[in-house]
Amino acid sequence: MKVLIVGSGGREHAIATSVAKSPKVDKIYCAPGNAGIGQIAECVPIGAMEFDKIVAFAKEKEIDLTVVGMDDPLVGGLVDELEKAGLRTFGPRKNAAILEGSKAFSKDLMKKYNIPTAAYETFDDPKEALAYLETSEYPIVLKADGLALGKGVLICNTKEEAIAGVKEIMEDKKFGTAGNRMVVEEFMTGREVSVLSFVDGNTIQIMSSAQDHKRAKDGDQGLNTGGMGTFSPSPFYTAEVDDFCQKNIFQKTVDAMKAEGREFKGVIFFGLMLTPKGPKVLEYNARFGDPEAQVVLPRMKNDIIDVFEACIDGTLDQMKVEYEDNAAVCVVLASDGYPVSYEKGFPIGGLDAFDGKDDYFCFHAGTAMKDGTFVTNGGRVLGVTAKGDTLKEAREKAYKATEWVSFDNKYMRNDIGKAIDEA
Ligand code: AMP
Ligand code: GLY
Repeated sequence: MKVLIVGSGGREHAIATSVAKSPKVDKIYCAPGNAGIGQIAECVPIGAMEFDKIVAFAKEKEIDLTVVGMDDPLVGGLVDELEKAGLRTFGPRKNAAILEGSKAFSKDLMKKYNIPTAAYETFDDPKEALAYLETSEYPIVLKADGLALGKGVLICNTKEEAIAGVKEIMEDKKFGTAGNRMVVEEFMTGREVSVLSFVDGNTIQIMSSAQDHKRAKDGDQGLNTGGMGTFSPSPFYTAEVDDFCQKNIFQKTVDAMKAEGREFKGVIFFGLMLTPKGPKVLEYNARFGDPEAQVVLPRMKNDIIDVFEACIDGTLDQMKVEYEDNAAVCVVLASDGYPVSYEKGFPIGGLDAFDGKDDYFCFHAGTAMKDGTFVTNGGRVLGVTAKGDTLKEAREKAYKATEWVSFDNKYMRNDIGKAIDEA
């Protein structure tokens, strides 16, 4: 079969790597992809938001399955457009992707269906938000309602910071129209865990847990990024936590979406905070996490095509999604200066070292091909992943593999997976 993947990051490289393992697949296309994805797929120069071109391309090439990896096209309704053209597609429709696309929607859903999350209020008017801040407790969390590249969340320690935050989000529109509406939320403490899941509208099967490292610098300092590294499984996601989430969060979310007439098919990503009062939902995403996919998918035993098809056909209850009994760690190699400003175009050396090694992966995020050489082309450049029998072994191997790769201005965190030592 012919598969089209929409997106261009490390997540899409991880998806493409799993798809390429399926004996059912003859040909993979990726729109727009990147230089690493180009090693296993044919990249086509169509942007992820160019819906008409994507549909026309999929029709012309008679694509059997399209997988939409990124949030923007999902929230914008690419799945609906592909389905209208009679094309089989993995991912939620627009009316379900709102679970990620609007924080106000997701908070109201959790409140209505009694799914544990932080207390909150929603505001359309900055004056009302400012009045609310007068009587709030601090710290407090401000969230732009819409998609903001994972950056529309401000944690404010004082009233003054929060007032400045309301101005940034709602008046100066720092995150664009995403800030027309804002959620003000109770500040929670605890460990964060990412749990991704496959959903077919009715049935949900969670993937192995993971933990991201969102801040740019060691010790969780510096600015929020798209993610500087991950490990899977999370030792903090215990059987007891799982039991609670299965009863109070996962199936309830799927059932709530169905009850609202917004049947969800695809991946639901639960961003959880393990608070002293139990697990609560920080956020939902409607797609694989990046770089969570880079540690979760290499450990999945199933043919990913079978899982995608079961989600589309509503037959996920007839299969079991299984994971290897091991661990994986991904260390992101970034361009120094990310997430603010950085240079691009430096040649990347050492990538051959990954060839023929089953337990090492080098997922490309921001790379391009120039005169036959891989060059840096983004803030996050590569995701170096290693599998090991234990988290510690995987971490050691991943850090060793980061030394194989060289490029100017290479930057990484040196404490990815440090939390493992506290487990
Ligand atoms: P989000 O995009 O909603 O995941 O938020 C980004 C990050 O902000 C999360 O990964 C948390 O570290 C932090 N965060 C979001 N909401 C809260 C909250 N209510 N309490 C504490 N931290 C939060
Ligand atoms: N790693 C967090 C995300 O994909 O949103």
